[in-house]
Amino acid sequence: MNIILLGPPGAGKGTQAKRLIDKYGIPQISTGDMLRAALKEGTPLGLEAKKYMDQGALVPDSVVIGLVKERIQQADCSKGYMLDGFPRNVSQAEALDEMLNELGQKIDHVVCVEVPASELIGRLTGRRTCRNCGAGFHVLFDPPKTDGVCDKCKGELYQRDDDNEATVSSRLKVYDDQTAPLISYYDKQGKLRRIDGVGSMDTILQRITAVLG
Ligand code: AP5
Ligand code: MG
Repeated sequence: MNIILLGPPGAGKGTQAKRLIDKYGIPQISTGDMLRAALKEGTPLGLEAKKYMDQGALVPDSVVIGLVKERIQQADCSKGYMLDGFPRNVSQAEALDEMLNELGQKIDHVVCVEVPASELIGRLTGRRTCRNCGAGFHVLFDPPKTDGVCDKCKGELYQRDDDNEATVSSRLKVYDDQTAPLISYYDKQGKLRRIDGVGSMDTILQRITAVLG
């Protein structure tokens, strides 16, 4: 099963993807995580991407399309995958349709996680992520047992550079202007499944699994 997780910054795409991996046995492909990993390694691609990410802008299409095309052909994607944060605009969606066509694949479901902007800001500014294993936490809604320490691997928790209020507000605008048009793009293809993203993380997981079957 090939799934797209669509939704604004802070909607819970990464949080739910990590839970869905266990249930469906397919990998999460997060372009944001891939770009942050490239930056951590100090590659030219990562350093170039940082300029855009720090402003809350989209990284050029050619960069992310190339990353996804390579990633979905790896062995662990043979039973399907969950795209998190890709596509991000109509030209990425068209490029994805084209590459899947070439590979004889298709997207089965586009899960759109809907959360009002008023809730997103607090979710993002309170998010903490493990530097070591990537586990996600929230200082109020999903706090670690010990401040600043990952429950799972004892790694250090950090705040993403783009989770400050100014960059969050640019990211939300970019979502409205460039990513939200994908809702009608996939609705027209009959693939859109809208999910209310407000509620406990477990409730939202149940809502998603109910539409995926
Ligand atoms: P990316 O990393 O994709 O960030 P994003 O889309 O802005 O989404 P987030 O990761 O911020 O939110 P999320 O939905 O995953 O929320 P999470 O589950 O963590 O992209 C970052 C940047 O990379 C972009 O700005 C761009 O520059 C670049 N980029 C990436 N992909 C690109 C592409 N395709 N094209 C071009 N550029 C690209 O949850 C957030 C917080 O809320 C957590 O603390 C969590 O604990 C908490 N939370 C989750 N669920 C709930 C709940 N139900 N109740 C309360 N709190 C909750
Ligand atoms: Mg994410």
